[in-house]
Amino acid sequence: MDLHWILNRNALRLTSTVAKSADQWMDFYTHQGTPAAIAALKAQGCQVWVSDLQATQTLDDLELPAKVVVVVGNAKFGISEAMRSAADQRYILPMRGMVQSFNLSVALALTLANLVPRRRRELALDGQSGDLSPDRLARIRRKWLEFGVDRADIVRRVLDAEADGSGTGQP
Ligand SMILES: C[S@@+](CC[C@H](N)C(=O)[O-])C[C@H]1O[C@@H](n2cnc3c(N)ncnc32)[C@H](O)[C@@H]1O
Repeated sequence: MDLHWILNRNALRLTSTVAKSADQWMDFYTHQGTPAAIAALKAQGCQVWVSDLQATQTLDDLELPAKVVVVVGNAKFGISEAMRSAADQRYILPMRGMVQSFNLSVALALTLANLVPRRRRELALDGQSGDLSPDRLARIRRKWLEFGVDRADIVRRVLDAEADGSGTGQP
């Protein structure tokens, strides 16, 4: 649910007729250029995995780390050299037929369809259903509840009361 946008060429502009409000359930981050993005993500302990038409290994060849950020390239220019050389891993999504590449959203969807079940299986073996910190879970829960109801002020009051242990927040 974390989407990092690197501002190399283009501003971040969402098209509401395409996004259809799906973006409100995600967290967006912007970075001023590729080196800044790589530094920020590696500082958070993420491995950088780059989907790259020049790669030779596939996702199934790679061992999944606890935290990974998946990079998809610009639709016209593909992956930058700066990103390619900073990658911890580069992978190709095998294709057959006559076209060069998938649309970048398709490439990302295929990647997540491979990685997410693998991660879930590993967590299940450890008896866990997820790997977000309790703090992060609480923040997401608050944000989603506020989006999901008309009277967000009531939700906010109840959650504040829950957080400080003072009761239900009901009048
Ligand atoms: C439309 S493609 C870019 C094509 C661009 N003309 C190029 O030469 O790289 C957009 C991005 O999706 C990802 N992608 C698409 N198809 C892929 C594939 N078969 N394997 C790996 N990555 C792929 C890559 O990150 C790529 O940069």
